[in-house]
Amino acid sequence: MARRSLVVGNWKMNGFKADGLALARALAGRMRHRGDARFEMALCPPFTLIAAVGDAIANSGIALGGQDCHPKPKGAHTGDVSAPMLKDLDCRFAIVGHSERRADHGETDALVKAKAEAALAAGLTAIVCIGEREAERDAGRTLQVVKTQLLGSLPKGAAPATTVVAYEPVWAIGTGRTPTTAEIGEVHALIRSELAQALGKTTAEGIRLLYGGSVKASNAKEIFAVDGVDGGLVGGASLDVDEFWAIAEACR
Ligand code: 13P
Repeated sequence: MARRSLVVGNWKMNGFKADGLALARALAGRMRHRGDARFEMALCPPFTLIAAVGDAIANSGIALGGQDCHPKPKGAHTGDVSAPMLKDLDCRFAIVGHSERRADHGETDALVKAKAEAALAAGLTAIVCIGEREAERDAGRTLQVVKTQLLGSLPKGAAPATTVVAYEPVWAIGTGRTPTTAEIGEVHALIRSELAQALGKTTAEGIRLLYGGSVKASNAKEIFAVDGVDGGLVGGASLDVDEFWAIAEACR
């Protein structure tokens, strides 16, 4: 099954009405003009901007996503946002298990899996994030760590339409440092083979695997050319129209 390239902008805790909407409108304008987009684009603004960004990108083909969701659909969980609430705002995606949430909020694989399953139950596609810390890479434990996180975080019912996996080495996020293309290829091959064992070869072949961590216009083409990389999850560079657009254009 051919996998369509996907480039996702994770705005993290950035963006106010003025700059966020200007960015969304500019990307929507380019997308509408492009017409034949061979890549799929999604924006994951902070919760405060999801509704407004949704209006700004209407009919552009750009999809919308949340940066997190609660495992429960509703209830007494002050400050949290549920997957059905994201769906209600016409989101297609929910990022779960980002390393910043694992670090800032102590999220475990079990919780990430529960969040991913909540996303699927709401009709969203979960973008499940995994990746090793620097000390783990230095200790030669990358593949083991990635495998454990993947198998622990993957939702029941994972399939090409419901699940995307993002490999984001923690030490590459926001640092300007990236693994070599060989290192990225090695991890993506491991993820694909673990998915094949867990879900069967056909399902595994259809699931998109993104790379994230210091993706820029200047390195995107090289990274996206790596076998098994189906696009990118982009942080800092997704806040700049020209940078993010150039990254999208670098998709295969
Ligand atoms: P940067 O692109 O800023 O390194 O962030 C990557 C990331 O964490 C995307 O989710």
